[in-house]
Amino acid sequence: MSEPDQLVALDTLRRMAREGKRRFAGLTAYDATFARVLDACGVEFILVGDSLGMVVQGHGTTRPVTMDDMVYHTQCVARSVRRALLISDLPYMSCCDVPMAQANAARLVQEGGAQVVKLEASQEQVEIVRGLSEQGLPVCAHLGLRPQSLTQMDRVRRHGRTPDEAAELRETALALEQAGADLLLLECVVDDLATEITERAGIPVIGIGSGAACDGQILVLHDLLGLTDPMPKHARSFMDSGNGIADAVRAYVEAVHSGSFP
Ligand code: KIV
Repeated sequence: MSEPDQLVALDTLRRMAREGKRRFAGLTAYDATFARVLDACGVEFILVGDSLGMVVQGHGTTRPVTMDDMVYHTQCVARSVRRALLISDLPYMSCCDVPMAQANAARLVQEGGAQVVKLEASQEQVEIVRGLSEQGLPVCAHLGLRPQSLTQMDRVRRHGRTPDEAAELRETALALEQAGADLLLLECVVDDLATEITERAGIPVIGIGSGAACDGQILVLHDLLGLTDPMPKHARSFMDSGNGIADAVRAYVEAVHSGSFP
């Protein structure tokens, strides 16, 4: 388990996943104030997600988010994070080939202050992940529902329902791990498959809308605060349980740690 005053590193998440006593909790943040509150409330990691395209910038998808946007928001968050591991998203079209991905990931780390970069990945991104890993850039590979592949007209659905889709996800997860990914993130993957991938993986697996078996959980901050309309099916507002934002975040961390959410 992570101690309240100890820095959370990738090794901390690896240890928590290996021990399996307590799952780790993460939330998105896009600015310094919220990052400070979340950090003080004990989340193990903070993600500067390209969901900022929707919840901060008001777009219908994540696609308009640029590298400059990601660097700017990562800098804002990094200024006030003292303890949590800081992960930042590589946005749409920022990793079309290995040199481009390396240059953009380096910007998130060098200019932004990120410790891990996240990219949405299918089989086509395996060599990109290898290229990042070979440069010593810690990588989180995001699979299942990949919001950058969605247009506003697409339906959000659970992934891995058919045998073919499940086999492809299984193989992709394994290939990404073998290519050097440090973390996997499964979004809207059917529970049984997410459980199986988590059990098989030798690296920590983070879930969102993918059941309760993953090593850690992530929620979009605005969902936790009940500010999203309509709320995604997998999300829960924690604002009902207390008197303010800090209580809501503490309730969420406690619920992930104890296994009562998701
Ligand atoms: O951008 C984001 O907030 C994300 C989460 C949905 C995992 O990728």
